[in-house]
Formats: sequence, C-alpha cells, structure tokens
Amino acid sequence: MFERREFLKFLAASPLLTNYSAFAQEVEETTGERLTDPSEVINVFEMEAVARTKVPPAHFGYLVTGVDSDGTLRANREGYTRFQIRPHRLVDVSRNDMSVNVLGSEAQSPFFLCPVGGQGAFHPDAELASARAAAVKGHHMILSTMSSTAIEAVAEARDSPLWFQLYSTNRWEYTEAMLRRAEAAGCTAVALTIDLPGGRNTETDRLLAREDDRDCAVCHTPPRVKPIFEGLNMRGVGITDPSLTWDVIGRMKEVTNMRVIIKGVEVGTDAALAVQHGADGIIVSNHGGRATETGRGTIECLPEVVAAVNGRIPVIIDGGIRRGTDAFKALALGASAVGIGRPYVWGLGAFGQAGVERVLDLLNRELAITMRGSGTPTIADIGSSYVLDAGHRVPRGRLGRDIL
Ligand SMILES: Cc1cc2nc3c(=O)[nH]c(=O)nc-3n(C[C@H](O)[C@H](O)[C@H](O)COP(=O)(O)O)c2cc1C
Repeated sequence: MFERREFLKFLAASPLLTNYSAFAQEVEETTGERLTDPSEVINVFEMEAVARTKVPPAHFGYLVTGVDSDGTLRANREGYTRFQIRPHRLVDVSRNDMSVNVLGSEAQSPFFLCPVGGQGAFHPDAELASARAAAVKGHHMILSTMSSTAIEAVAEARDSPLWFQLYSTNRWEYTEAMLRRAEAAGCTAVALTIDLPGGRNTETDRLLAREDDRDCAVCHTPPRVKPIFEGLNMRGVGITDPSLTWDVIGRMKEVTNMRVIIKGVEVGTDAALAVQHGADGIIVSNHGGRATETGRGTIECLPEVVAAVNGRIPVIIDGGIRRGTDAFKALALGASAVGIGRPYVWGLGAFGQAGVERVLDLLNRELAITMRGSGTPTIADIGSSYVLDAGHRVPRGRLGRDIL
C-alpha cells in the first residue's frame, strides 16, 4: 500500500495533479469535487480543496501565493508546531463562552475576517457574502481598501460596526478622503497596513497564472478603479506610500475619530513605537506571508510584541491560523483576537456565503473543543500557563493516514 509520504511525493511529481497540489497550503488527500455541500467539509484544508475546483487558476494563484519561494507563508504554519498546549483538568467547562470585546466592538468569537482585497475574483457575491456570514455568525470583519464592493454596501450587509483597512496611497488628501468615507459608512476602527512599502514578488501567483487559458485582458483592462477610489484620480498614484513614518498615526487621528490600528507589526520595538505614537491596537501580521520573505511565523513574533505592549492596547494576530488549536495558542500568548484570511476566502470561493459560514463554524467548533479540553470556559481564562514554547518546530502529520 502507498505510504502517505510516497503518496505526497507522487502528488508533487505528477504532471496531472501537481499544479494545484504543489501549492496547496497543507495537503489533504480529499478531492474537492466530491464535496458538493458545505456540511460535508470537515476542516478548512478540505475547503481549500473545494475552492481549487471552483476558482480559476489565476485567481486561485492570487489567493494562495506568498512571496519569492513562499518561505514566510510556510513559517506562518510551521511556527504553530513550536507551541504545545498544557491542558488543566477538572475545571467546570459545562459553559463555553467565546465572546470577545475588542476596542468596544462585541463579537461572538475571537476569529475575525481579515481584509482580503478583490473578493469578486472568488465569488460573484464577493465581500457581501463575507459580510453576511460575519453578521450571521457574529464575527468581526475588516474590509480591504481593495474591496470589489463599495464600503457602504458592505457596512449594510455586515449590520454591525465594520472596520476598514487602509492603504494610505501616496497622496495624503486621498488618505483623508478614504478615512472620511469609511467613518461616514459607520466604520469604528481603521487598520493601517504598514508592511508593503516596497512592492512584492508573488511568484506562485505568476506560476499559476500560466495555467489559466482565459484572456485576462477581458476583465483586467486599465484603468481599473476600486470602489473606494471612485471620484479620486488614481492615474500615477501609488497604493502605498514608501515615505510613511510613525507620525502617520497622529496625522490620521487629526482626520478621524475611528480607532487607529497598525497592521503589520512583527517586532517589539515597533510595537512600543506604535503605542508611543498613540495607536489604539496592533495587528501582528506579515500579510499572510505576502510581504517580506524569510520572516518568522507571526506566532513566533507575538510574544515579543505582547511583552513590549505590556497590556496598554489590544494585540491582535493573523497569519497561518487554520485550526482551533492555533487560535487557542495565540490567545494564550496574549492575543485579544485572531484573524483568518485565506480560510474564509476558500469558503467564499467554494460555496459563497454558506462556505464562509461553514469555515467559521468549523473553526469555532475546534476552538470550543480545545477550550473545554484545556479547562478554559471563557477567552479571558486562556492565559500563558496553557501553552509551552518547545523552542523548536515539531514535525506535523496525520498519523492515522500514515498507518492506513
Ligand atoms: C488574497 C489576499 C488578499 C489580501 N489583501 C489584503 C489587503 O487588501 N489588505 C491587507 O491589509 N491585507 C491583505 N491581505 C492579508 C490579510 O489581511 C491577512 O493578513 C492574511 O491573509 C492572514 O494570513 P492567512 O491568509 O494565512 O490567514 C490579503 C491576503 C490574501 C490572501
């Protein structure tokens, strides 16, 4: 019988199957075609397999890609293997409460939907489907500057305060215009993304685009204007501003009453600077491995950021979170909430709103099981004594499959 390792090697080498499997975040041997209803999907990796069968190769490439050789992308997943759970027993866990309040916004669960641009590439309902799923399940959502859908429509579908992710552009008057529009749409917080000042090299994206035989020019003919830029002349304007420094926080606060969150912090000294300059929150993030190559996994960055912030403002994390146990570890290490990017977009690409809801259900169920199994009835109970840093990454694999 085929050993799992040999099987994976076979997948990686097969000219028929490789193109997608080689890029899969974590290979599950299930074929996506077989799963026709969201309820059949047992974990987020299977949701990725279904999305692969529905989303065109070039768009799927945009979703899965890291940068260069995808080293940081991998580190985000592998970093979690370094940390092990220390369960405490015989605690009354008959009640399970996963609710959180971050910067005054209530949510039923610590998982929030990260800003992911251009969701029209994955499903015609795009950000509206994600927002409706977030509303039904009571999750926070941050809307990307690069949203395919107008912020006002998404805010209505979200039906609770939405947060807005900002790429400042290199024109300050445009930054001001976007901040005013987001606030007028009802957003209560803005997350400024600071990890892409120098562009990026998304090779996996380009490799998968080669597999796509559709004529990209049909849809991607310039000038393309995202809804948030309507009324602004974007000709020659950069999406990010390489000259930004920490005083941007104060400048934003002069324009808006929204809480200002800094997204893309990886080191403690930057976290301290963010607090010093008046940030209301920090997201430990490397853009899902899409910014700087050969970085650490975000879970490995979290402890030094939490130590530097020392409880003064909430620290949130995203990158590589695929299991309830991942969320539990991040919460134990001091995160106030945990973001998912690709997993909910796999759900979106696979089944639209129902797929996003299924992903949230799966992750919430896994987290609830982990919380009960570890003796932590509420999120606030999940402290540092529930996790151990092994100091090195531990190989992972599905043992059950190895012995089949
Ligand atoms: C397809 C895609 C598009 C993204 N677009 C944005 C964006 O517009 N703004 C932003 O701040 N982050 C963006 N991100 C990064 C996410 O907000 C988040 O940091 C990352 O996806 C988390 O990692 P994960 O995908 O491993 O969960 C994007 C990520 C992906 C996968």
